[in-house]
Amino acid sequence: MRNLNQDNITQAVIASFAETENPRLKEIMISLVQHLHAFARDVKLTEGEWFQGIEFLTRCGHITDERRQEFILLSDVLGLSMLTVAMNQQRPKGCTEATVFGPFHVKDAPHYELGADIANGAKGTPCLVRGRVLSADGKAIPHAHLDVWQSDEDGLYDVQHEGLAQAQARGTLNADALGQYHFRSIVAVPYAIPHDGPVGAMLQATGRHPWRPAHLHFKVEAPGYQPLITHVFRNQSEYLDSDAVFGVRQSLICDWVAQADGSYLLEYDFVLNPVAQG
Ligand code: BEZ
Ligand code: FE
Repeated sequence: MRNLNQDNITQAVIASFAETENPRLKEIMISLVQHLHAFARDVKLTEGEWFQGIEFLTRCGHITDERRQEFILLSDVLGLSMLTVAMNQQRPKGCTEATVFGPFHVKDAPHYELGADIANGAKGTPCLVRGRVLSADGKAIPHAHLDVWQSDEDGLYDVQHEGLAQAQARGTLNADALGQYHFRSIVAVPYAIPHDGPVGAMLQATGRHPWRPAHLHFKVEAPGYQPLITHVFRNQSEYLDSDAVFGVRQSLICDWVAQADGSYLLEYDFVLNPVAQG
C-alpha cells in the first residue's frame, strides 16, 4: 500500500474491499471503482476538472431538500433512471410498459370516488380520463388501485407551487368490480424539468433542453400483480423524440381526443403482469 501509482492504485482500492461482508455491496463497490478509475483514465481527468465535478455534486447537495431532489434529476437526465427501469421492469409482451417515476409523486395523495375531478382547482383544459385495468389474458382486474399525478397548464406540479395548501391534479382511485376507472382532470402539457440548478446548467452547457413531452403519471397496483409505474404520453406532443429524461415508449403514447364542448377525452387500458405464484 505504499508508493501507489497510476498503474497499481485501482487494484489497491479494489483489494481494500476484500473484507466486505455483504457480497452484493462488495460487487458494487469493486465495479464502481473499476469504472470510475477507467473513466478518469479515459478522459485523462485533470485536477481542475476533478474539482469542477466535486463543486457540481456539492451544488446538487445544496439545492436538494424535501421538495427538490437534484440527484434524481441528475440520474434522470443521464438516462440512469430509465436504464434501471428498463433492466428491472421487463414484462411479457402485451403488458403495459413501465417508465421513470420522477420526483413529483406524493405519498398519501387524496383519495377520490370514480368520476371525481382530481384537478381540484388546477389550471387547465378539462379532460375525462377512462379505461380498464386488465390482466395479460384480457380479464378485468377488479378494484385495482390507481395513483395519478400530473402538472397543470403552466407545466408545474402542485408541489412546485410555493404555499399551495391543497393537492391539485393528483389523487388515488379504485377501479370498479369490472376493472373500469374514470376521473376528470386537465389536459397534460409539455413542461421543463427544474433547470434552475446545477443539472439545468449542465443541460445548457451541453446544448440540451430540459423539456418533457405531455404526460400523465400512473401507479397501478392490484394484489397478485407486479405494481406498474408508468406515464401515458400525449400523441402529437412536442418532445416525444427528445424527452430530457429518455422516458418515452411508443406503447405509452395515446391520443387525447378533442370533444365538441372543448374538453378532451383520454382512454387508456392498463395491462398488469401477474406475479409468479410461489
Ligand atoms: C416527471 O415526469 O415528473 C419528471 C421525471 C423526471 C424528472 C423530472 C420530472
Ligand atoms: Fe411528469
